[in-house]
Amino acid sequence: MKLGVRWGILGPGAIARSFATAIDALEGHEITATGSRDPDRAVAFNAERNYGAEVGSYEQVASSDSVDAVYVATPHPGHLEHASLALRQGKAVLCEKPLTVNASEARAMCELARENGVLLMEAMWSRFLPATRRVEGWLASGAIGEPRKLAASFGFRAPFDPKSRLYDPELAGGSLLDIGCYTLSLAALVFGQALIGTEGPEIEVTAELAPTGVDQHCNIVLRFPSGAEANLQCSIDRQTDHTAAIQGTEGGIALDEFWRARRAVLYRNSIRAATSEFPFLANGYEYQAMEVERLLREGAIESPLLPHAESIALMERMDEIRRRIGVQYPFESTIGVTETVGEPN
Ligand SMILES: NC(=O)c1ccc[n+]([C@@H]2O[C@H](COP(=O)([O-])OP(=O)(O)OC[C@H]3O[C@@H](n4cnc5c(N)ncnc54)[C@H](OP(=O)(O)O)[C@@H]3O)[C@@H](O)[C@H]2O)c1
Repeated sequence: MKLGVRWGILGPGAIARSFATAIDALEGHEITATGSRDPDRAVAFNAERNYGAEVGSYEQVASSDSVDAVYVATPHPGHLEHASLALRQGKAVLCEKPLTVNASEARAMCELARENGVLLMEAMWSRFLPATRRVEGWLASGAIGEPRKLAASFGFRAPFDPKSRLYDPELAGGSLLDIGCYTLSLAALVFGQALIGTEGPEIEVTAELAPTGVDQHCNIVLRFPSGAEANLQCSIDRQTDHTAAIQGTEGGIALDEFWRARRAVLYRNSIRAATSEFPFLANGYEYQAMEVERLLREGAIESPLLPHAESIALMERMDEIRRRIGVQYPFESTIGVTETVGEPN
């Protein structure tokens, strides 16, 4: 089978530009179609990068014969609708994080992928980074013994603008869905089924809400039956140190800028036992694209590194956190249920 992937982009905005930089650095990968609500914006995107890509609506790109996989790069409330356009056409989908706005949408999207026998993967790019894979290896080999605590913080200051994607409830704004999902993804790597299994941990959360009603800061504590805990912070109203620290009975792991980590440090017996450096090939978004290529070659419908069940379970946890802090989006009939999607059967 030929190598590489012909990509169609839906929503040529900020993250689509970063993704395109990664694609440009990968042999065999190419952006062959750009879909926008306004053709002029797709033309401008192509011109910036000297692409000869087709230009069309989201529907046209999702059904184009020149596309193997569609990258959904629209704001969160569009993910289900836009991914569905492609999945119904039998096109593989890499969908930006968070996979959807809530678990009802995530279940619907994953079900559609299964029904159509087509690949769907959340673009939780951190999960595919070589540094993250090294941490996964250390955890699996018992290098730190039993994980007892994770502390992770991701926060930056985005000036308050009620119409911006980060603060507008219509666009599912808030720190939790935008960047809290990275802290939860790392917690899933460390605690596995204890976080994503049916029981789930006890959750405590304190939050500060913006004038638009979305969360601008969350401090989340996950308490597991074993006594282990995760302390996660996400904020769009302040700068944090961006570190993650995993404490285990036999050792510890430190990650700087954990969601875009290029270095992982292992501590054992009170000393720094290993430092692993992983410079990016491009900007880090390439590793998720390489995973999509590998999965397409195998004919898989999900990634073993980030199965549908994990994306759904983490959306359930985020629904639960939003219930605790009272953040409901205007298009939800209740927290966790989008009016047009409804409860699962
Ligand atoms: N992986 C990462 O590191 C990362 C970083 C940032 C964001 N993201 C994720 O990527 C998604 C997009 O974020 P972004 O920062 O790239 O957003 P953005 O630049 O504001 O929007 C992306 C594009 O979506 C299209 N769009 C469709 N419906 C829209 C609507 N109702 N309002 C505004 N734009 C709409 C627009 O393109 P057209 O109108 O031209 O079609 C827009 O340019 C989010 O889900 C976010 O969580 C991921």
